[in-house]
Amino acid sequence: MSTTSAAGTRRDFLFTATGAAAVVGTIAVAIPVVDQMEPDASTLAAGGPVDFDLGKLQPGQQAVVRWRSRPIFIINRTAAAVKTLQDPKLLSRLSDADSSTRQQPPYADNWHRSIKPEYGVLVGICTHLGCIPLFYPDPSASVPTADWPGGYFCPCHGSKYDLAGRVYSGVPAPYNLPVPPHHLVNDKTLRIGENPPNVIWDFSSIVQI
Ligand code: FES
Repeated sequence: MSTTSAAGTRRDFLFTATGAAAVVGTIAVAIPVVDQMEPDASTLAAGGPVDFDLGKLQPGQQAVVRWRSRPIFIINRTAAAVKTLQDPKLLSRLSDADSSTRQQPPYADNWHRSIKPEYGVLVGICTHLGCIPLFYPDPSASVPTADWPGGYFCPCHGSKYDLAGRVYSGVPAPYNLPVPPHHLVNDKTLRIGENPPNVIWDFSSIVQI
């Protein structure tokens, strides 16, 4: 991780200590989680780009893949969820609705923090102390708090994020969830760990991972 302070060490510890339980929790929460998919061992070892077939993901579903030892959330947002991302009521509850802090590449500097509004790609590590947030996409299902529009809830200390990974105001987490480099190789293939052609952006320039 890019943080090098004592806090960074603690974050690393919490990520390690809570990761397994949190991933189990994610899968238990919902319907909409696709099984974790692993690229081949040599790709993982090299830390190279990871391809994901978006055709496996129905609207409302999320998959978790691993890239450079980090969980990466890939979300297929429903039309209603995309609409909610622009809802003034939601925006008023967010700490950095415009993503002004550099937590994403320039091509995700927009209201959906991704290349296509329907697909979100996020590093699934809470920016507070490194737990893995749980996926609660549906406002009407069992939800972590009242008046829940859909998003992520971190059970460790109660931080909340929307479905674009934007953090709520008044929670412990200080920043939006990071967005990793990614691009669409074609309509159905998402490549994580690589910028779109002709874009130069260094993931390590992100404020907090
Ligand atoms: S680690 Fe997520 S709220 Fe503390």
